Amino acid sequence: MSTGTSGQALVTFEDVHKSFHTASGETVALQGISQAIGKGEFVAVIGPSGCGKSTLLRLLCGLEQPTRGRIRYSGGAVDFGVAFQEHRLLPWMTVEDNIALADHMTAKFSKASRERARDLCALVGLNGFEKRMPSELSGGMRQRTSFARAMYAKPELLLLDEPFGALDALTREKIIADAERIWLERRFTAFLITHSIDEAVQLADRVLVLSPRPGRVAAEITVDLPRPHVRERSNPRYVQLCDQLRRLLEI
Ligand SMILES: Nc1ncnc2c1ncn2[C@@H]1O[C@H](COP(=O)(O)OP(=O)(O)OP(=O)(O)O)[C@@H](O)[C@H]1O
Ligand SMILES: [Mg+2]
Repeated sequence: MSTGTSGQALVTFEDVHKSFHTASGETVALQGISQAIGKGEFVAVIGPSGCGKSTLLRLLCGLEQPTRGRIRYSGGAVDFGVAFQEHRLLPWMTVEDNIALADHMTAKFSKASRERARDLCALVGLNGFEKRMPSELSGGMRQRTSFARAMYAKPELLLLDEPFGALDALTREKIIADAERIWLERRFTAFLITHSIDEAVQLADRVLVLSPRPGRVAAEITVDLPRPHVRERSNPRYVQLCDQLRRLLEI
């Protein structure tokens, strides 16, 4: 079994299979996933469309159950924050209320909740939009709100499903650099799904490459670069890792 860099596993996939039964037959989404995600590790998952990446994330947060195999959590349970591929903001709540949703749901919303939501707005570049409704935002702004909401409760495990996909190149570059900085400060465990090789190498300690459906871990690349990775983009090793991933994804 593959293991994370930090030794102690936070989550372990043990020979996980997932199939879906639909009117048009069975779809095998994932096959034989055995992986350990280390505490404090940043793992990125990359692979072609439909290979089971979102299914992997939904299994991690308990929205789906494995058809075979199992997922173990250190201590039995792990608190997580999640930004889904579709932003899933509540349309009747403002940006700051959406970000602080965890406190609204547990009736713990306070002045401190608003302050934290506002700090996160600033962090993701949404200053001035705190009181806007989701329908008044661009796609990229909705994604940023969703990313801020995932980080709100300072979770042990941050699950991100293509969180930066709809952002323009400049905003994306800035938010990725910010995301790495925040991770370096707090060292939570992160599981990022992305289609971007550059994003995976900039953020992750380890990149899992999934095969076309049924998704299996076809390769595993350790990003052996000093942190912050964002400063290593012209390092020949960085370029080499990106090339290696590009070749693996061409198969
Ligand atoms: N609830 C479901 N019912 C039936 N089939 C499903 C369900 N969820 C996912 N699938 C199927 O499982 C496969 C993997 O889907 P998944 O959403 O995990 O892919 P993905 O790698 O996230 O793709 P993308 O990069 O396009 O987001 C697909 O063939 C999809 O049709
Ligand atoms: Mg997906």
